[in-house]
Amino acid sequence: SVEKFKLRNGYEIPCIGFGTWDIRNEELVVRAIKKALDIGYRHIDTASAYQNEKSIGRAIAEYPIDREELFITSKVWATERGYEKTLLSFEKTLKDLALDYIDLYLIHWPASPNKFDNWEDINLGTWRALTELYKSGKVKAIGVSNFRQSHLEALMKTEVKPMVNQVEFNPGNKHMKTIDYCKNNNIIVEAWSPLGRSRILNNEILLSMAKKYDKSPAQICLRWCLQNEVIALPKSITPSRIKENFEIFDFEISQNDMTTINGMPSFAWSGLDPDEVDF
Ligand code: A2P
Repeated sequence: SVEKFKLRNGYEIPCIGFGTWDIRNEELVVRAIKKALDIGYRHIDTASAYQNEKSIGRAIAEYPIDREELFITSKVWATERGYEKTLLSFEKTLKDLALDYIDLYLIHWPASPNKFDNWEDINLGTWRALTELYKSGKVKAIGVSNFRQSHLEALMKTEVKPMVNQVEFNPGNKHMKTIDYCKNNNIIVEAWSPLGRSRILNNEILLSMAKKYDKSPAQICLRWCLQNEVIALPKSITPSRIKENFEIFDFEISQNDMTTINGMPSFAWSGLDPDEVDF
């Protein structure tokens, strides 16, 4: 079984998870989840916004495995934030997944696309709902996603502090300021788009490392996440890639090569330093 990280409350989380963003077709979802479980993934990452929770629930129900062996994450969408709405959204998620608890529940974004909303109050209300769900045992751990330091700080004074922050993290987009803050505050970081949605896989540095270690650029990205103590959540609907992305436990990137990848500049697709982007 795969290595696990420990959250601040002692709950264990598998260090690689299966990402499901943008897989919506029911048969495709069911097939991909079952393939991932066959290969050994035990951690599945979804969100109400992904519109695939019912299909994931079906795949899990149909798969012969004990619930305790699985680690299931979901997220409350930006426009569903606030105490009351969050509780309602959670009940729908639980019902769609056909589960009686989920392992990790996250606030998906710190603010609505309308960034003039009163995000601090809304997030505190949302967090109160997550704290209640945590205390009731319906979720085993709680956290956030896409939060920068200022968003996190607003929650660090609460009784139960965020255990996880899920952000974009890949060799072309690193959010180092946010990552450092999380590490210093015992918040486990998870990487969405650890492959940069595949746009970084033809980068020359990654290609030469892939050659050196006899691995693919995707496997270099994922191993690099792990060695940075970041949980990787690669997404694929392609069986051979689902397998490839899990074969990252039989090699180690040298400290020198880690430093080289850590030093790669942010890619220019946003034109902005990720730590400075205001979302
Ligand atoms: P597909 O799902 O068609 O297999 P990310 O997780 O960074 O968002 O990247 C997801 C994208 O990367 C998807 O388009 C996925 O394609 C592709 N992908 C996933 N794994 C690999 C891999 N091992 N090699 C190349 N592309 C991959």
